Amino acid sequence: MKILVAGGAGFIGSHLCQRLIKEKHQVICVDNLITGSLNNIKELFKNKNFFFINHDVIKPLSQNIKIEAIFHLASPASPNHHSKLSYHHLAMETMLVNSIGTLELLKLAEKNQAKFLFVSSSEIYGDPLIHPQKESYFGNVSPTGPRSVYDESKRFGETLTAYFWRSRNLDARIARVFNTFGPNMQKEDKRMIINFIISALENKPITIYGDGQQTRSLCYIDDIVEGLIRLMFFPKTKEEIINLGSPEEHSVFYYAQLVKKLTNSKSKIIFSEELPQDDPKKRKPDITKAKRILNWQPRISLEEGLKKTINYFKKIILKKFYEKNRHYSSYL
Ligand SMILES: NC(=O)c1ccc[n+]([C@@H]2O[C@H](COP(=O)([O-])OP(=O)(O)OC[C@H]3O[C@@H](n4cnc5c(N)ncnc54)[C@H](O)[C@@H]3O)[C@@H](O)[C@H]2O)c1
Repeated sequence: MKILVAGGAGFIGSHLCQRLIKEKHQVICVDNLITGSLNNIKELFKNKNFFFINHDVIKPLSQNIKIEAIFHLASPASPNHHSKLSYHHLAMETMLVNSIGTLELLKLAEKNQAKFLFVSSSEIYGDPLIHPQKESYFGNVSPTGPRSVYDESKRFGETLTAYFWRSRNLDARIARVFNTFGPNMQKEDKRMIINFIISALENKPITIYGDGQQTRSLCYIDDIVEGLIRLMFFPKTKEEIINLGSPEEHSVFYYAQLVKKLTNSKSKIIFSEELPQDDPKKRKPDITKAKRILNWQPRISLEEGLKKTINYFKKIILKKFYEKNRHYSSYL
């Protein structure tokens, strides 16, 4: 099959491209590299079935492009105010890619009679008043708060996608992805678990915002990719909206302690800053629907996923160390 992955050089997109290539599909990765990296897909360039187009999806793609399925993952995704890659810093880009970008990709899907999957987010539930969150829950979102550039644009992306299936008979569906982690996450986007891992590996203080009692559910990347593929290709998934994430819920403090343990780190856990405005206190998916329609649930345990992610960042840190030392030794 010929498949377009928008946002394919990002964290989730790069794993999805790898998996699709492994399954012998032709993959066109479209990405403007605003938060992604060519490093994530460098191995894929060796494969004759992999094509990369450096392009901003808010602009139309060439009329001649022929595809059978589109996964739309293009969007900044980090909520951390301190990161230049976060949707706070990339507010306009985030609003446009989830609105205009989604519209352009939907039009391309319609023209090609292609299947379409919009990757939405658990953020559309905002600071939820219902726990765990079912797909039927409409959420508790501020339309003007600091996170609204992401939350509301994802909600509008969903609206556009649903319009195309309702009024224009497009074979489309929506994945509401919850917190995901694994290799290929950018150190610079400073998402919680990466911050913890990097600080722990460097034996620097592990910083928790707020009192650490807010909870998160983290799902390992391979499970999310499996869920996205099933949602795109399983029968009876047209017009479905499905949560993908781990229902295993822990406090942020628990994650900090677990990372510290798994890295044998000497880091101190410190509580330094107030919770950012609108930070959700609880987030946990109800995955009944994913189990029923996709026969899907996470398979990889939190510890196993964390160990793989820790190993990936260990290698990155070591590589940087050796690069520095090589440079230094050339002056000796
Ligand atoms: N990682 C998570 O925990 C998580 C959770 C829920 C939803 N999501 C969603 O999954 C998708 C992928 O997230 P991620 O964590 O891999 O983020 P990421 O930032 O690593 O990947 C996003 C990719 O989209 C590209 N992109 C952004 N705007 C673009 C544009 N206008 N044109 C072309 N490419 C563009 C970026 O360069 C990047 O490669 C996003 O839509 C995000 O909202 C992620």
